[in-house]
Amino acid sequence: MSNYHIKHLEEYFNVYRKSVRDPELFWEEIAEEHFVWRKRWDTVLEWDFKKPEIKWFQGAKLNITENCIDRHLAANGDKTAILFEPNDPAELAQQITYKQLSERVNQFANVLKSKGIQKGDRVCIYLPMIPELAISLLACARIGAIHSVVFAGFSSTALATRINDSDCKMVITADGSYRGSKAIDLKGIVDEGLTHCSSVESVLVVKRTNAAIKMIDGRDEWLQPILDDASIVCEAEIMDAEDPLFILYTSGSTGQPKGMVHTTAGYMVYTAYSFKNVFQYRPNDIYWCTADIGWITGHSYIVYGPLANGATTVMFEGVPSYPDCGRFWEIIEKHKITQFYTAPTAIRALAKEHMDFVTKHDLSSLKVLGTVGEPINEEAWHWYNDNVGKKKSPIVDTWWQTETGGIMISPLPGITATIPTYATLPLPGIQPALIGDDGQEIKGNQVDGKLCIKFPWPSIARTIWGNHDRYRETYFSAYENMYFTGDGALRDEVGYYRITGRVDDVIIVSGHNLGTAPIEDAINEHPAVAESAIVGFPHDIKGSVLYGFITLKETGEGRNHENLRKEINQIISEHIGSIAKLDKIQFTAGLPKTRSGKIMRRILRKIACNEMENLGDISTLLNPECVDEIIKERL
Ligand code: PRX
Repeated sequence: MSNYHIKHLEEYFNVYRKSVRDPELFWEEIAEEHFVWRKRWDTVLEWDFKKPEIKWFQGAKLNITENCIDRHLAANGDKTAILFEPNDPAELAQQITYKQLSERVNQFANVLKSKGIQKGDRVCIYLPMIPELAISLLACARIGAIHSVVFAGFSSTALATRINDSDCKMVITADGSYRGSKAIDLKGIVDEGLTHCSSVESVLVVKRTNAAIKMIDGRDEWLQPILDDASIVCEAEIMDAEDPLFILYTSGSTGQPKGMVHTTAGYMVYTAYSFKNVFQYRPNDIYWCTADIGWITGHSYIVYGPLANGATTVMFEGVPSYPDCGRFWEIIEKHKITQFYTAPTAIRALAKEHMDFVTKHDLSSLKVLGTVGEPINEEAWHWYNDNVGKKKSPIVDTWWQTETGGIMISPLPGITATIPTYATLPLPGIQPALIGDDGQEIKGNQVDGKLCIKFPWPSIARTIWGNHDRYRETYFSAYENMYFTGDGALRDEVGYYRITGRVDDVIIVSGHNLGTAPIEDAINEHPAVAESAIVGFPHDIKGSVLYGFITLKETGEGRNHENLRKEINQIISEHIGSIAKLDKIQFTAGLPKTRSGKIMRRILRKIACNEMENLGDISTLLNPECVDEIIKERL
């Protein structure tokens, strides 16, 4: 008997022990009892972190959409699979049943085929949070095409970089998107981006805002008319367990984003298993994750994890502040949401608003609250617990990453005792380790170090698209036989984990993972800029914001610094998107460097955070004199 649904703490500890003692048996039982396979696997796991190579359920054949849709049809065809809440509260919510989802996915899959998309082709999806977004992922999976969703807040340049990196053959987009009271010209962004892409043969356009847009003959087509003509039957492509399911880009420490590749069977098993347990999902629950499907949270916990469990998953098109700051709470009341999963940055923003926005809504349907994406501070945790959960809905602080595919460390609600700011205990199958400065694992409790994972789990990303060396370098070269997460963590006296934040050049702004390198590369394109260094500093709503130290080619005398600041942020918006704009820009005569010429970001980080008293020894710098000036002119 598998341990698919953990119901109490003793069971968790038993299951955890079993998952470490015999991981293969543990995952094999779950895979066997809770999923449908066209052919059984030959081996459960083959792995070598040195290569690195990780293969789960080798030899198995399946299609993930048969697990997420078809198998629910007989008993639950009329159950709501996706509940769509539009941006405008006056527009009716849509309930898409499993049967309707099946038909819409199959029609969409047939459209993809009719446009020449085949198994293994990459399809870029650049859509707002409308049902077609979830449906297009599933349609790709149905025919074995690899989806690459690009968050629809990224700029045309960022979109083009991602399309080119994986040679996407098609783009699926919309005429526009809504963001609160604003309409955004998505198609215009795609048109601009595609002037730099040669691989794209066709663009399918969903009608959403009715904006007047340009359609390019021979390349662009409205989706709806072709969908209407497509059959609602589409045989699922039979996939190998390790066939890629999708690529999702995440920031790294060099300019080029990393296309993390997730494969089919392991990702399915792990996202389904973690969804069931972390949210303690029961058949009549209405689960809502507020993330965008453009991020991993949306892939794993709006689409695949919930649908694999036959759940009802809510998709929200809008923003928490439109038409007012009570929108989240209104939706919880309206749809009687049972599990609510959001980001600390949203909680902090809403906690600043008048309490009436919360108190006027009946939130009594809630059973579980979740957070993800960044550390949650104690104050926000308490606000969430007291005012939203009314102290009766446990908060699951879920730690994981684009690379991990699924939740790794998290309380199980009602089972694990929670402590604010602690992600608590690893899920079954997850073996964390803390590594000290000497590169050795630190055993025991009340210790801190760099967070690594010692053993493969089914949903670990298998490679970086087109760059396996970078995958090895980034994740498997820091410590022998370990996956390195890039995060620091501590383990307290009872073995609970608390994530302390990134230990590399990634900064998390409003829950968005931003690498400093691509932002610096963008800034350095400004003709007046000689050099730049970006660091993060704390912000009470966004968690962190960006502080840029920039040296100009000329002394900068006589230049209008305000205009330059605007131009620099404009360049960042064009290259990456407005999420990466700098909050503060300080022009400096020089940047502190080591004798080998490396910019000492650590010193700049301390200055930005106003922690000047412990800058450490700066006498060994190439140019220690610039530090005083930077401190004096700190913004
Ligand atoms: O630093 C950690 C932080 O977000 C990083 C992963 O970002 P991304 O790949 O964009 O995925 C975000 C959604 C899973 C991690 O390396 N992070 C994520 N969750 C938490 C967190 N930091 C602290 N607590 C968390 N619960």
